Amino acid sequence: MLNNDTVSVGFFLFLFLFIAVSEPTFNDDVLGLIVFKSGLHDPLSKLASWNSEDYDPCNWVGCVCDPATSRVTELRLDAFSLSGHIGRGLLRLQFLHTLVLSNNNLTGALNPEFTHLQLVDFSGNNLSGRIPKGFFEQCGSLRSVSFANNKLTGPLPVSLTYCSTLTHLNLSANQLSGRLPREIWFLKSLKSLDLSHNFLQGEIPDGIGGLFDLHEINLSNNWFSGHLPSDVGTCSSLKSLDFSENYLSGYLPDSMKTLGSCSSIRLRGNSLIGDIPEWIGEIASLESLDLSANNLSGHAPFSLGNLEFLKELNLSTNLLAGEIPETISNCSNLISIDVSKNSFSGHVLKWMFNGYSESSSLSRSGNDTLLSMVGFLHGLRLLDLSSNGFSGEIPSNIWTLTSLVLLNLSTNAFFGSIPTGIGGLKVAEILDLSSNLLNGTVPCEIGGAASLKQLHLQRNRLAGQIPAQISNCSALTAIDLSENNLSGGIPGSIGSLSNLEYIDLSTNNLSGSLPKEIEKLSHLVTFNISYNSITGELPAGGFFNTIPLSAVTGNPSLCGSVVNRSCLSVHPKPIVLNPNSSNPANGPPLGGQIRKSVLSISALIAIGAAAFIAIGVVVVTLLNVHARSSVSRHDAAAAAAALAMSVGETFSCSPSKDQEFGKLVMFSGEADVFDTTGANALLNKDCELGRGGFGVVYKTNLQDGRPLAVKKLTVAGLIKSQEEFEREMRQLGKLRHRNVVEIKGYYWTQSLQLLIHEFVSGGSLYRHLHGDDNVCLTWRQRFSIILGIARGLAYLHATNMTHYNLKATNVLIDATGEAKVSDFGLARLLASALDRCVLSGKVQSALGYTAPEFACRTVKITDKCDVYGFGILLLEVVTGKRPVEYAEDDVVVLCETVREGLEEGRVEECVDGRLRGNFPVEEAVPVIKLGLVCGSQVPSNRPEMEEVVKILELIQCPSDDSE
Ligand SMILES: *[C@@H]1O[C@H](CO)[C@@H](O)[C@H](O)[C@H]1NC(C)=O
Ligand SMILES: *[C@@H]1O[C@H](CO)[C@@H](O)[C@H](O)[C@H]1NC(C)=O
Ligand SMILES: *[C@@H]1O[C@H](CO)[C@@H](O)[C@H](O)[C@H]1NC(C)=O
Ligand SMILES: *[C@@H]1O[C@H](CO)[C@@H](O)[C@H](O)[C@H]1NC(C)=O
Repeated sequence: MLNNDTVSVGFFLFLFLFIAVSEPTFNDDVLGLIVFKSGLHDPLSKLASWNSEDYDPCNWVGCVCDPATSRVTELRLDAFSLSGHIGRGLLRLQFLHTLVLSNNNLTGALNPEFTHLQLVDFSGNNLSGRIPKGFFEQCGSLRSVSFANNKLTGPLPVSLTYCSTLTHLNLSANQLSGRLPREIWFLKSLKSLDLSHNFLQGEIPDGIGGLFDLHEINLSNNWFSGHLPSDVGTCSSLKSLDFSENYLSGYLPDSMKTLGSCSSIRLRGNSLIGDIPEWIGEIASLESLDLSANNLSGHAPFSLGNLEFLKELNLSTNLLAGEIPETISNCSNLISIDVSKNSFSGHVLKWMFNGYSESSSLSRSGNDTLLSMVGFLHGLRLLDLSSNGFSGEIPSNIWTLTSLVLLNLSTNAFFGSIPTGIGGLKVAEILDLSSNLLNGTVPCEIGGAASLKQLHLQRNRLAGQIPAQISNCSALTAIDLSENNLSGGIPGSIGSLSNLEYIDLSTNNLSGSLPKEIEKLSHLVTFNISYNSITGELPAGGFFNTIPLSAVTGNPSLCGSVVNRSCLSVHPKPIVLNPNSSNPANGPPLGGQIRKSVLSISALIAIGAAAFIAIGVVVVTLLNVHARSSVSRHDAAAAAAALAMSVGETFSCSPSKDQEFGKLVMFSGEADVFDTTGANALLNKDCELGRGGFGVVYKTNLQDGRPLAVKKLTVAGLIKSQEEFEREMRQLGKLRHRNVVEIKGYYWTQSLQLLIHEFVSGGSLYRHLHGDDNVCLTWRQRFSIILGIARGLAYLHATNMTHYNLKATNVLIDATGEAKVSDFGLARLLASALDRCVLSGKVQSALGYTAPEFACRTVKITDKCDVYGFGILLLEVVTGKRPVEYAEDDVVVLCETVREGLEEGRVEECVDGRLRGNFPVEEAVPVIKLGLVCGSQVPSNRPEMEEVVKILELIQCPSDDSE
């Protein structure tokens, strides 16, 4: 149940041990990685090795160390199923140069600080927001950056163009918008640039010609317009150019002919015009040429035949006409030819297969010349000649296309019969001869094309029967024989084609009854036999119950409920239609899981502690029956009276050196001021600032106007020894820390003790969080307060001082928003005098802050009780909720609520509702986790305050440091 927490607890525990063991050299790599991990969700526990069993990060999965220094240099977490935010922990890894977090499920914005790395790969995540302006600003060493396949938005940052060391940049498949700045071509080291699949627009600026190292450029699938860059030909290293699917217009620039080493040119889906220039044949290394879906016109150039390495030729969907040049048969490496959707004409198949039947005999006699001329068909996998004006017969030696996977000759004027050689297309999956003038029969040899998935022969003049051998093509999913002159019956063997989804036999002369076997076709989606002469009854059940009338109409002798014609006249036996058979009565899955609401052990402990504290609170509340804290209440007179009443008789005549009447000591020189102005200064303008477990606090001003706070200790009677008191006060007086309230002095008599400390103008944290003045602390302020408290506590712990009494009312906020811990040190003074139970009741005078060990008399109370209080206080600051709140019939324990939120993945929702949307999740989540770890039930599971400070500093987002 406490999975996340216990895991994190393990880490911090380990961290703590580790720090303790190897004190001087705290390993930043370990801390950084742990903090990084704490911000992530790791559903497959891929980072399980990042744990306390092994404190050498070099053995952790994904980490690569420099063997000389044992520092982590590479972190590779590709496809680890991690989610969450990329926190700042990794910044701690000073020697990291390679960071691969690709193909996870990371969310949030990019951190601008990873620029000291050489290789950054965040591709295949779910990152969003803009690329930070500064990301590329200091990219002294950045070589390779990939943010491909995320959800980044906004323009390319201008800083990108400063990054002259960059060799690989991949921002593809995001939602980037705006123009391509001209300065992008200042990146002279670029070898590869991929900005495809974005929303970039405007013209592709000139200047690309200066990139002599550019190997690869992909700007496809954007909204670029204008002409192709005219100087692209001077990119002498270019191997691959892809500007497909944009709105580019104009001619192919002549400079392209000098792209001598270019192997791939893709310009598909633009609005290019003009001829395919003859110089295309000079791009001697071309392997892929895709000019499809443009407005190119004229003929296909003869020089295509010079491209001896050409594998893929796609001229589809243009306005090209004339014949396909026979020179193409020189391109002996062709794998794919697509010239579909043009106006090409001629007997293309004739020359392609010319003489090949002889060549097979010649090859035996060793005529290699002829073989090589037609041999280019051997490797062909795709031949698409569809939607042109080609004519002629399909040659019988079509079987020589031994590698062909797709053959599409549809929508041309091919005539004659389908050659028996078609059965030799052993690996063909798609055969489309539809919409031609083919006559004759469907050859039974079709059964030899055993890999066929789709057979399209519709809209021809085919006659004769459907060959039963078609059932050999067991992979068939679609058969379309519609609009022919086929006759005879539908072969029952079709029923064995169990993958069939689509059958269209409509508009033929098929007769006879439907074979029973077709009922077995369980994947059918379309079954069209309309406009034939099919007789008898439609099968019952399954697909045939839902068959639309249009699919069976036009068969006058067909009967069944679908065609609304009774079969009784035909058959003595009535058809039984079973409307339910397609919905087998499985019944709904049995009722939803019963979620048991069992209280966790930790909840019980927390509630137990709360109840225990509650007793303490009652006691304290009775003690402080007037308790009400409000700085805004300037009831000076009453407060002055109160102070005067209790202080007056001893204080009015108490010169600082008069031991008999009391002793006033001011630390650090202020005593002089005090001495000269006289003790009465205390009484001038005082007012009550607040009350706590140890006393009432008043404000007073020195004569020069500087304010001070004076605490009248209500535990006076318990302090027996002046010597002990003074020793303690002198120690407190030495404490100096920006996050600790400074003790300025004290006053002692046997019956009255005053503690004089600095006046903090902003009032208590409690008021800032829960006061009714309706100001809402920003996230940044909250974080700074948390960090301030942590630093203050860490300082106190370092001076051997346990606070014992941390809570929102004991943290003061100064005018600059800095948190100052107050009310410390007294517990120690009292510890000897008080029973622990009384003490805990006395000091932890608010619900929820008390560490559970207070309830257990056998456990030693240590600094860790402050860490607990800190954890609760942290959660209070983040959530804006009191540690324990009372609802109707219910006690809501903050820590538990947040813990549940974490377990259910709703941790972000725990943040104070008033901040909604206005806080960095990548800070909030680890901060909350930290709070929960600090609030662990077991003291040893809580980190030291010093570690807490380090972790917080790491979590903190950088952009805010400057504030
Ligand atoms: C990514 O996270 C979202 C929401 O947290 C979740 O719905 C989705 O399934 C996750 N995707 C992967 C590939 O883990
Ligand atoms: C991306 O994150 C959003 C929420 O931030 C989530 O809804 C979506 O499922 C995530 N997408 C993937 C592919 O994980
Ligand atoms: C091979 O065929 C070519 C072209 O038909 C012909 O010119 C050549 O003489 C033939 N060579 C042999 C050895 O038969
Ligand atoms: C097929 O058509 C061709 C010409 O279009 C014709 O010569 C041939 O006789 C026809 N064959 C059959 C079987 O109808």
